[in-house]
Amino acid sequence: MENLNLQVKDIFKSFWSGEKELNVLNGINFEFQTGNTYAITGASGSGKSTLIHILGGLDFPTKGQIFWGQKNIFDLNQKQKELFLNSNFGFVFQFHYLIKELSVIENIILPGLIAGKTKKESVQKAEFLLNKVGLEDKFDSYPTQLSGGQLQRVSILRAIFNEPKFLLADEPTGDLDAKNAQIITDLLLLCRKEFGMGLIICSHDKAVYERMDKILTLKDGILQ
Ligand SMILES: Nc1ncnc2c1ncn2[C@@H]1O[C@H](COP(=O)(O)OP(=O)(O)OP(=O)(O)O)[C@@H](O)[C@H]1O
Ligand SMILES: [Mg+2]
Repeated sequence: MENLNLQVKDIFKSFWSGEKELNVLNGINFEFQTGNTYAITGASGSGKSTLIHILGGLDFPTKGQIFWGQKNIFDLNQKQKELFLNSNFGFVFQFHYLIKELSVIENIILPGLIAGKTKKESVQKAEFLLNKVGLEDKFDSYPTQLSGGQLQRVSILRAIFNEPKFLLADEPTGDLDAKNAQIITDLLLLCRKEFGMGLIICSHDKAVYERMDKILTLKDGILQ
């Protein structure tokens, strides 16, 4: 069977500010396996967000490659890459990025419509998922009418809608209280269990990162 792990090979990333070069990632090598859960921790500014954006193809490294099976994701053209990301990766961020003009249901089904699913089957699936997370009374609400914890639950449903191989989350509980942080972590782990996806989560929060199978620390631009 084709190996669908996410293989990170010698990733470097620098930013330039004026004349000064800031070396954020200094040779990241790692293989993330589908079905496993990973936490990336490290001090503020250590490069966690930079790394997770590159892992998911949202930013380019200065040097290095990311292999998905046999495929180097940076070899894809923009259109191929968008389709590839839409069906294989789900993203959750600290702030929800839901579209405020769209209802909860409309936000959740968006990745399904992009992938070519019908509206009818997408809506049915979204309703099923919303029921599972206790938001059955919010189908037609708009993002401005939801609490922070509810918004993050909706963001996760949108991210997992196409049952991606990996769910990438950057401080998904960073804006929530302890109780909601626990609800969100439970939901992320449940998604992994239900769909067998890999989970990569950047978090400062011990209560969150300690629940992952493997805890990696980013320090001096290297994963330790
Ligand atoms: N687009 C950019 N241009 C210049 N410097 C950047 C850019 N993005 C990030 N950096 C710098 O790269 C370093 C790593 O940033 P990053 O956001 O990855 O850290 P982080 O570990 O996610 O921090 P936090 O825990 O605060 O979210 C920081 O010093 C940051 O200022
Ligand atoms: Mg960050």
